[in-house]
Amino acid sequence: MWGGRFAAGPAEVMERINASIGFDKRLYAQDIAGSKAHCAMLVHQRIISQEDGAAILAGLDAILSEIEAGQFEFKASLEDIHMNVEARLAELIGEPAGRLHTARSRNDQVATDVRLWTRAAVDSLENSLRDLQAALIGQAEAEADTVMPGYTHLQAAQPVTFGHHMLAYVEMLGRDRGRLQDCRRRMNESPLGAAALAGTSFDIDRQATASALDFDRPMANSMDAVSDRDYVLEFLSAGAIIAMHLSRLSEEIVLWCSAGFRFVELSDAFTTGSSIMPQKRNPDAAELIRGKAGRVIGALNSLLVVMKGLPMTYGKDMQEDKEPLFDAADTLQLCVTAMTGMVADMKANRGALKAATAHGFLTATDLADWLVRVLDMPFRRAHHVTGSIVKLAEERGCGLSDLSLADMREIEPGITEDVFSVLTVENAVASRTSAGGTAPERVREAAAAAKERFL
Ligand code: ARG
Repeated sequence: MWGGRFAAGPAEVMERINASIGFDKRLYAQDIAGSKAHCAMLVHQRIISQEDGAAILAGLDAILSEIEAGQFEFKASLEDIHMNVEARLAELIGEPAGRLHTARSRNDQVATDVRLWTRAAVDSLENSLRDLQAALIGQAEAEADTVMPGYTHLQAAQPVTFGHHMLAYVEMLGRDRGRLQDCRRRMNESPLGAAALAGTSFDIDRQATASALDFDRPMANSMDAVSDRDYVLEFLSAGAIIAMHLSRLSEEIVLWCSAGFRFVELSDAFTTGSSIMPQKRNPDAAELIRGKAGRVIGALNSLLVVMKGLPMTYGKDMQEDKEPLFDAADTLQLCVTAMTGMVADMKANRGALKAATAHGFLTATDLADWLVRVLDMPFRRAHHVTGSIVKLAEERGCGLSDLSLADMREIEPGITEDVFSVLTVENAVASRTSAGGTAPERVREAAAAAKERFL
């Protein structure tokens, strides 16, 4: 491969550690697109002839077809996708193939390929996140009136609606999409033409290759162009946050499917049975999404560690960017798709959700607010009075609305019959009409707004 300088081939283990073709063959379409843009530019700039350019372009198209038809033989002895394509090009068209690499290096070539690949991965992940948002919004609309306990510290806190809970995730995923769009904007510059690291003495047109590949502009500094992997790290960072969000939702689904909750039901399509316990219906997809977050977060870590000690510019260490990138992108795509299926499949168990609101004195805050509003009590005092009433209910083993007016008056003589109007969970939920609040009317508005903003 290296012509003049090398007399002997590499040791077997050298070939094994060096070769990336086993995984970077996934870059074939980007590699060929980059080569075609480069070739067309070389012709336009009269750096290579029309005839050679035409032969190269036809050859590259033939290789693309061979690869897509599964008829291409990838060789580890040719190290990577770049050399595999170029070697095949030489077999197909002979001498002109050797002119393609004029004013280019594998360093700007691989940087271009990986950018193109990552950009496509960002776009498809963002699309899938939109589908997941649509499924969540669908649940929010269907369950805008469904009351359930809202939690802090996983302690029942105040009643909310299931729809409101779903829309919280829609917001999280909206920020995730924003992070992807943001990293896409920054990554969309072309490294091509940086050559090995210093640029080239040929009169190339970097703007032309950048436009041909739908980049916004050429990267400004040739050394940065070949040594930068920030765009992969940004994608993995955004991906790690996405994986974390999916994992939190998975954890809730796992809890909600358990006997202590029974808040939702998943159909046979998204559960599995147990080989020994016939009664079981396990939320495996949710557990796997929760588990796979580890891989995505690990991918970010592994590339950060690869990059942290590298001097300028390219180092072969950077070949280690691809496996974590590919694995994280595949994992995220799979997890988002599975989550979308699960969310659409999930059936809120309205009875169990409502029943759960009977425990935990969820309307205690409403009682305190009533004391403030009707008796003009300072909130701190109302909090104290309510605490005493809760304590009494706890001792009696009943809910707040099960206490008699006389019981409550013993603690606070100013309390009137009217207090019972705020002690039901439906009223508590309906009263939280502040912007971004859980009142069903707000939830319906928020779902409609989310459709406008996100779908
Ligand atoms: N397979 C290499 C990589 O993935 C391509 C670039 C090789 N460049 C070089 N100077 N050896 O990074």
